[in-house]
Amino acid sequence: MRFPPSFLDEIRDRVPISQVVGTRVTFDKRKTNAARGDYWACCPFHGENTPSFHCEDKKGRYHCFGCGVSGDHFKFLGELDGLSFPEAVERVAEMAGVPMPARDPEAEKREKQRASLTDVMDMAARFFEERLHGPEGAEARAYLRGRGLSSTTQQSFRLGFAPDSRNALKEHLADKGITKEQMEACGLVYSGPDIPVSYDRFRGRIMFPIEDTRGRVIAFGGRALSANIPAKYLNSPDTELFHKGNVLYNHARARRATAKGESVIAVEGYMDVIALAQAGVENVVAPLGTALTENQLELLWRIHGEPVLCFDGDSAGLRAAWRAADLALPMAQAGRSLRFALLPEGKDPDDLVREEGRAAFDALISQARPMADLIWTRETSGKVFDTPERRAELEKALRELTGRIRDENVRRHYAQDMRERVISYFGADQSRRGRGGDFRKGGQQGRGRPGAAPGRLAVSESLARSGMVRAATGGTTLREATIVVALINHPALLDEHFDKAERLTLTSPDMARLRSALFDAMAHGTAHEATAVREALAAAGFGEALEKAEALVRRARQWPALADAALEDAREAFLQALHLHVSSGSLHKELKAAELALADDPTEENYRHLVEIQAELRNIQATEALIEGFGLLSGRASQS
Ligand code: UTP
Ligand code: MN
Repeated sequence: MRFPPSFLDEIRDRVPISQVVGTRVTFDKRKTNAARGDYWACCPFHGENTPSFHCEDKKGRYHCFGCGVSGDHFKFLGELDGLSFPEAVERVAEMAGVPMPARDPEAEKREKQRASLTDVMDMAARFFEERLHGPEGAEARAYLRGRGLSSTTQQSFRLGFAPDSRNALKEHLADKGITKEQMEACGLVYSGPDIPVSYDRFRGRIMFPIEDTRGRVIAFGGRALSANIPAKYLNSPDTELFHKGNVLYNHARARRATAKGESVIAVEGYMDVIALAQAGVENVVAPLGTALTENQLELLWRIHGEPVLCFDGDSAGLRAAWRAADLALPMAQAGRSLRFALLPEGKDPDDLVREEGRAAFDALISQARPMADLIWTRETSGKVFDTPERRAELEKALRELTGRIRDENVRRHYAQDMRERVISYFGADQSRRGRGGDFRKGGQQGRGRPGAAPGRLAVSESLARSGMVRAATGGTTLREATIVVALINHPALLDEHFDKAERLTLTSPDMARLRSALFDAMAHGTAHEATAVREALAAAGFGEALEKAEALVRRARQWPALADAALEDAREAFLQALHLHVSSGSLHKELKAAELALADDPTEENYRHLVEIQAELRNIQATEALIEGFGLLSGRASQS
């Protein structure tokens, strides 16, 4: 419905924006000046550790200087709580203590109808819950116990049991005065012109109520107890309340669990969601028996900018991941992407947490890979690019893929990212090598070597991935930036680790020069104090280079390398980056050598050697993924 603008103004004026925002964030005490109606907090839209989210009561608006979101009361509730506009208006009107204006009678009627249907659904849910605990529920209870679900978990997900009867629910609802039409509208009974007597849709099944964003039951999923029933899961049909492509199982709870900036995870099944919740992972949703839809992606993005999609590790799971990436790619925006986690083959998340505990699942999620990485790997893995034609074909396919991205900025970044991956894998051409300059001793990380026959072998995933960090940052790897930035901000580290810092091979010319400037500053007797070091660097003309490196570090959330961090944290980040840098550097050299050796002499032994190195690299990359975060590849980079 349309609201009179005067009404919207009135409620907006009555409720300070800080009161609306304050329901979802904790304001930063130091930065906030409540007396002036001036509030600061960590941004609930993009997740951060220092507050750059601002809201001002006088203007009635919020704005994040980090990710650029802005809006008023209604937009905030819409984007963060997923409320529709009328719902947001209603919420603010309630806070303002102002009654809603009279609605048009048609809308009123539809609303009433919906309300009564949710009542019926709630009655049905309660009926199923009661049956689970009654005598007919014995087998179902045993089944759920056997699957390790505690009774608290069962209760909190309102699990139930539909007795194996054609009219148990129907009669129960009829006794409560519910009409046949209402039951049909709820999808609880089978009916139709060729069905003389309608009968219960769900029979002999464990029932999983599906709730809307406000926690009201709008549909059910029912799992068969015995294996020889055709449909393992039977879901409610689409009804006025329920459109399965627009709903996520566990949406309301998952959204609450992500209030502190944590991402949201999508898994495939109801049981996965429930088993994870029981293990303490509550930020999880599932689609309803179909592949993710565009609408469901939108819902995920309203919860978090970088949802993690979790798929089975078998080929079907991989195909599902690709399909999701194809769907999401055109919709990618700054700060809106996906990450992908693949499970060990043959296991679903439920198996994994039950057998190996929550830590195993957390580790899997922390290693989730960016969408760009998944797409690159799909286009290259297992393929051989041994002719110019084949390489051109790859480039064409990548161009076609990136061309689908609707957002111009993201499209440009993707195109560049893919180009850099290609170059990084096949070897630099002359002009690039000229520009890149000083790649000592043949360079690292799969860079091309003069005279090497490029691309003789199928692209190994590890090499493919190694291009990623460099590609996304225009020449400076995050690791190198972290190392140098940590040294500059925490000169004590340089005293402690001078030898290592000096010996280190830095492939980025910018970082190598910055390090030399740092050494110079120290050698010329500058006090061993961060501010003095920075001044000396700025005086020597390195202010901008340092700023760029710090921006990169900040985007990747490597806070410990920055000036505010405690020395212990900085030391840890520095040593970790150093360790990864050194070990992956030498492994990449070995990998390149092993690939060439195998190309020259394809023996079993050479093959095994290559596989071993690949496995070691994967290990390192897993650790690296933990610290890299996702900031690098998200479109946010475009704002700097
Ligand atoms: P799975 O077959 O992976 O089931 O289907 P699951 O969730 O692991 O369940 P358990 O562990 O066997 O009990 C994943 C999801 O696909 C939908 C359901 O939403 C299920 O949770 N599905 C599956 C159906 O809708 N119908 C089916 O027949 C099977
Ligand atoms: Mn399962």
